[in-house]
Amino acid sequence: MRLDAILSRFGYCSRREAALWIKRGRVQVKGTVAKSPSAKAEPDEVLVDGEPVEFPGGLYIALNKPLGCTCSHREEGELVYDLLPQHWLNRADGVSTVGRLDKETGGLLLITDDGAFVHALTSPKRHVPKVYEFECSAPVPKSAVELFAGGELLLHGETTPCLPAELVLTGECSGRLTLHEGRYHQVRRMLAAVGAPVTVLTRVAIGPLQLAELNLAPGEWAAIDPAIFA
Ligand code: URA
Repeated sequence: MRLDAILSRFGYCSRREAALWIKRGRVQVKGTVAKSPSAKAEPDEVLVDGEPVEFPGGLYIALNKPLGCTCSHREEGELVYDLLPQHWLNRADGVSTVGRLDKETGGLLLITDDGAFVHALTSPKRHVPKVYEFECSAPVPKSAVELFAGGELLLHGETTPCLPAELVLTGECSGRLTLHEGRYHQVRRMLAAVGAPVTVLTRVAIGPLQLAELNLAPGEWAAIDPAIFA
């Protein structure tokens, strides 16, 4: 690829600005300061301001989503994207979340510029399990364990019942719920259906990826290897 195309593709600057960056000596290829925007290089041979081009093979990030921000590019207020470096958001393939968490849900959220990865993880056929920890403002009836596991819970306004889901109660008003699909506000609606409104909700795992193992404070992120979901 041309150097100016690399800089713009990975979100550093426009192709026009790339010429200036190169003129100012900010770009190196294989350890030598680059001279021409039209010179060809592989993205992983390029340094920008002394740092390797980030994620030349695709952006795959796990974010510990804080409460109060929205998984949207458009809405008002604080967005999850505000937490990320601007040049990631400028990448040519566009950056999106893998599914969504509600504004008032925290925890594990994947962010990528790989549309096929989003599709693979959110496809209803894949049934990638997602684990949520919750607290409720009322006791969760023990009968909910069997009800959720049975795959017969019909949520208000829907025509197909929820897929079987695993509920583990960790206290009178708290527990862990594993879902194999992603419906709108699903955890909150399932628990509300058994008389237990959710007050705190955190996603703690997606497939093999565990939030606890990533050691991320709310608002922090880590690069992940997408191959773990293969
Ligand atoms: N279920 C919910 O109710 N909210 C989320 O953010 C995710 C699952």
